Amino acid sequence: MNIIEVANYEEMSRASADFILKKIKGSEKVTLGLATGGTPLGTYQELVKDHKENETSYDHVHTYNLDEYVGLTPDDQESYHAYMCEHLFHPVNLPLEQTNIPNGAAPELLQECLRYDMLIESIGGVDLQLLGIGENGHIGFNEPGTLFSTSTHVVDLTPSTLEANAKYFKDPSKQPTQAITMGIATILKSKEILLLASGERKQEALFHLLRGEVTESVPASALNMHDRVTIIADSQALKLVNSLGK
Ligand code: F6R
Repeated sequence: MNIIEVANYEEMSRASADFILKKIKGSEKVTLGLATGGTPLGTYQELVKDHKENETSYDHVHTYNLDEYVGLTPDDQESYHAYMCEHLFHPVNLPLEQTNIPNGAAPELLQECLRYDMLIESIGGVDLQLLGIGENGHIGFNEPGTLFSTSTHVVDLTPSTLEANAKYFKDPSKQPTQAITMGIATILKSKEILLLASGERKQEALFHLLRGEVTESVPASALNMHDRVTIIADSQALKLVNSLGK
């Protein structure tokens, strides 16, 4: 695992955008797995800034998001569809027909999971998967205890995830309690993985990922089974690793 320590969120975002831009500029066709939440926002802002300054083209980029809330339609302002359109797809002119996000409002959720998993299988896994990490060690919405063999599935979000994400909902009573997420096996099919972590709240999760055992009670620990993982984390997120882990 390649670990890049940076000073803060801004540096993490710049380093991660540079990493992604190398992929985008280095190939004729690129498939990117994308995450939502607070962590990648700065990265997307950097990509938008680069697009404005350098006119980087996204015509050859195809994207596959990790997850979506169950019950939210793509046009719901609090859906991950809306988040991606606002923060990345529209500002960099990424053709929307090249973007893929699970449909949390699909009438048959199990069928939707199967469709999404087969889509990723059909491209042989994404070229680069961007990940954040939950305070409880989740990746995507694979909560602790999820089997490493899982493909795309519907999850019940844990109380700790609901609490951590409540800040993203104007009306907390409208916060969905379930999500569709790529499974751990789906994520591990990616050819390369980039995990970002910033802030003290992530220090325990990173400690378990980097210094703990590989165990289903820490979903992110599955990344130890992949041979091309880069972690860009700031000093706050690496605090526990640096104080106890050496
Ligand atoms: C988001 C996702 C989640 C987040 C994680 C961290 O698509 O899959 O695993 O990456 O919950 O969220 P933030 O970045 O808001 O701390």
